[in-house]
Order: sequence, then C-alpha cells, then structure tokens
Amino acid sequence: MANECNNRNESCIRPDDPRYKELKAYIDSVRDQQGINIMVLQEAQRLFGYVPLEVQKWISLELDDVSVGELYGISTFYSQFNLTKQGKHKISVCLGTACYVKGAQAIVEALQQHLDIEVGGISEDEMFSLEATRCLGCCSLAPVMMIDDDVYAKLYDTKQIPEILDKYYLESELEHEMESEVDA
Ligand code: FES
Repeated sequence: MANECNNRNESCIRPDDPRYKELKAYIDSVRDQQGINIMVLQEAQRLFGYVPLEVQKWISLELDDVSVGELYGISTFYSQFNLTKQGKHKISVCLGTACYVKGAQAIVEALQQHLDIEVGGISEDEMFSLEATRCLGCCSLAPVMMIDDDVYAKLYDTKQIPEILDKYYLESELEHEMESEVDA
C-alpha cells in the first residue's frame, strides 16, 4: 500500500497517512457517545486493517482523557482487533495438544517454507498471514488448520497445502478479473 513501508512484518503507517483524517472525522462524529473507545478502535481497524501501537497513540491524543494503556487493553482483550498487519486471508494452525501430537508442527513448517512466512507474519504478496492458535475446539479432526472460516481437518499430508493455497490465489484472480470487467 502506498502509504505504508515495505517491511511486511512491522507496522509503518506514516503520520501523514490520509486515513488519519478520516479517523479524526469519525472521532468528531461520535465524541459524546458511550463506548467511544471501542468504536474508534473498530473504525481505525476498518480504515487501516489493523490497530498498531502508533495508531493507538494517535487515538489516545485525539481522545484527550483516554490513555494508550486503556486502548491497548481493549485491543488485546477482544480478538476482533489485530495489532499487526494482516494478509488478505488469515491462516490459523492449531498447536493445541491433540493437533500437535498429530503433526501440526509439520503444517506450520510447510506453510513457512511454501509462503516464506514467519508465524505472526504475512506473506510478501500480502495474501496470507500465519498464526498458531490454541485448541480450536474440534480435536477429533486433528490436525486442524483454518483459513479465514474454512476448516481443513485431518491434514496429515502437508503436500496438500500448495493445492489448498492455490484455491485462494485463484479466487483472488477471479475477483480481480471481475473488478477489471466492471471498471472497463
Ligand atoms: S487441539 Fe487442535 S482442535 Fe483441539
């Protein structure tokens, strides 16, 4: 994205990013409302895609009597908030006990190798972010990987992974084609 630097594992939203102006307008429109902290964080995430610490510091200054600590507490308590930049699709590999003993670590390693990605990071093309999670509550399906809301169960054979990822690349290509047709 033009307003962000190229370090894919770090947040680097510039202070002059125009989305701050939009966020300021939003803050002004809800300034007297109850629950403003969470509302502003939600709007910031909608605009930026995530709410890194520098955005939280900016919000804290705008809201006068709200500390960064309060905002950070909210953003880490609710799973809806991302503190780091996310890929278009979120891959979650369960490393709970049942999945781990059935080979979930091999899934993580295959993804790292295939996408050149670290756990907690995003792929260079920003298509995928990778995270390791605790038990997803479906241990009978172990080892389990999720991509967004799609569940991939009993994923013993990591050779399936490139094929699974290709599905998302294909979907993305189709989306782009459709958008180009609409714009034409
Ligand atoms: S340990 Fe992976 S779903 Fe429970």
